[in-house]
Amino acid sequence: MSAEIAGAQVRGAALATELLSAGYQGRPVVQELSIRVDPGEVVSVVGPNGSGKSTLLKALIGVVQVLGGRVLWEGREVTNWSPDAAARAGVGYVPQVDDVFAPLTVKENLEMGGYLLPVREVPGRITHVLDVFPQLSRMLSRRAGRLSGGERKMLAMGRVLMLQPRAFVLDEPTANLAPALANMVLEDHIRQLSATGASVLIVEQRARAVLAISDRTYVMAGGRCQLEGTPAELIASPDFAETFLGGARRPAAPTGD
Ligand SMILES: Nc1ncnc2c1ncn2[C@@H]1O[C@H](COP(=O)(O)OP(=O)(O)O)[C@@H](O)[C@H]1O
Ligand SMILES: [Mg+2]
Repeated sequence: MSAEIAGAQVRGAALATELLSAGYQGRPVVQELSIRVDPGEVVSVVGPNGSGKSTLLKALIGVVQVLGGRVLWEGREVTNWSPDAAARAGVGYVPQVDDVFAPLTVKENLEMGGYLLPVREVPGRITHVLDVFPQLSRMLSRRAGRLSGGERKMLAMGRVLMLQPRAFVLDEPTANLAPALANMVLEDHIRQLSATGASVLIVEQRARAVLAISDRTYVMAGGRCQLEGTPAELIASPDFAETFLGGARRPAAPTGD
């Protein structure tokens, strides 16, 4: 069935868009963007502030209206589905802000994450989340609003993990985190999610750091995809290096960097 519906460009993909346009009040912000995330891959989208990264993710999970093109999940067209339908179908979305319920405890947040589950399955799923993020075990009775930025992001991921998604869609999980915490989120937490076997689509402004954990990366600017490739391909691209890596391809300067 999937092969009949998915076009050749996206056949076999977990999550994909074909010539996706999406935006606000009928005006496209994201324009004709085609991306794919294969099963088990970690794919990143990088780009400057305002380039449409959040809009892309919101269109993927049905928060922002798709104005053209298609969204496909496991070979099925799901364009303009709802966030609830996405969650039920196995796509877990962690927004850039408002990602936990601050007045609730860590445990209550995880229970909220299991809202679609039969009540008797919730304790078992919490155990599963604590297997993936053992760091959360000692924080269960703390209020989410009292966690550090990095702990809070881990909880947001754990909350989504309650439904055992087959894909995670993460919007700038390191926004507002100090560099050391940001690295921990990317190098530890995203790897912990990926180790569950799920596909990961992650949006980031920290291009250099996210490249280190990505199988492939798309570069967005002005709502369009400007470049795409493996980390090695992008690092070798002068355009990419100049824009995102601080001119790393300059002729070698006499510094010891
Ligand atoms: N709710 C909204 N209504 C109208 N325009 C919006 C809205 N949200 C974002 N935009 C506009 O869409 C563009 C892309 O924003 P966004 O997708 O948030 O970019 P990024 O996540 O890459 O920083 C920006 O010009 C922004 O002003
Ligand atoms: Mg954003």
